[in-house]
Amino acid sequence: RRLVVLVSGGGTNLQALLDATADPAYGATVVAVGADRDGTEGLARAERAGVATFVHRLADRPSRADWDASLADLVAEHQPDLVVLAGFMKLVGPAFLERFAGRVVNTHPALCPSFPGTTGPADALAYGVKVTGATLFVVDAGVDTGPIVAQTVVPVEDDDDVASLHERIKVAERRMLVDSVGRLARQGFTITDRKVRIGA
Ligand code: GRF
Repeated sequence: RRLVVLVSGGGTNLQALLDATADPAYGATVVAVGADRDGTEGLARAERAGVATFVHRLADRPSRADWDASLADLVAEHQPDLVVLAGFMKLVGPAFLERFAGRVVNTHPALCPSFPGTTGPADALAYGVKVTGATLFVVDAGVDTGPIVAQTVVPVEDDDDVASLHERIKVAERRMLVDSVGRLARQGFTITDRKVRIGA
């Protein structure tokens, strides 16, 4: 199975996928990595792994809709079976989702539907929850609202700050991402009434 991964930042989730896909038994390979900005460590990780990369900046396009449609074109060139958003800090839009309907997954550092958006770990900490975690979901038109593929739980410790909590989440998140993307790739999946079934 062919994976295209989109990143915006440090790319540790991407790295976990690159490491896993080195084993042919994993059932998927990363065929390209795209970013919405230059100079990210995520792109450098892809280059070191010998994977094709592209940068697609919103500021270079005349409109959000144009950015979205041309992003879909760039991704489509690599003929992905699955598109993985791994710390991609932009919402993909209607044209993109139509093109890759039901084949885009995203990882969020909170237990959906709690704490959607870009500040999940900080919001969990501020709320005072005792557990939080990460969610892998199939992307729909909302913000972190799509059908859930997998979730993983981590404790919130009394002395956590946002960085320590997010780091604990990310350790679990990477494991979940690698495990679930591998199963999606090897076994396929269906979505019925929001329920994701792997291997159905
Ligand atoms: C992850 O926790 C992701 O869920 C969040 O940002 C982080 C990205 O980490 N949106 P990395 O770039 O994969 O290291």
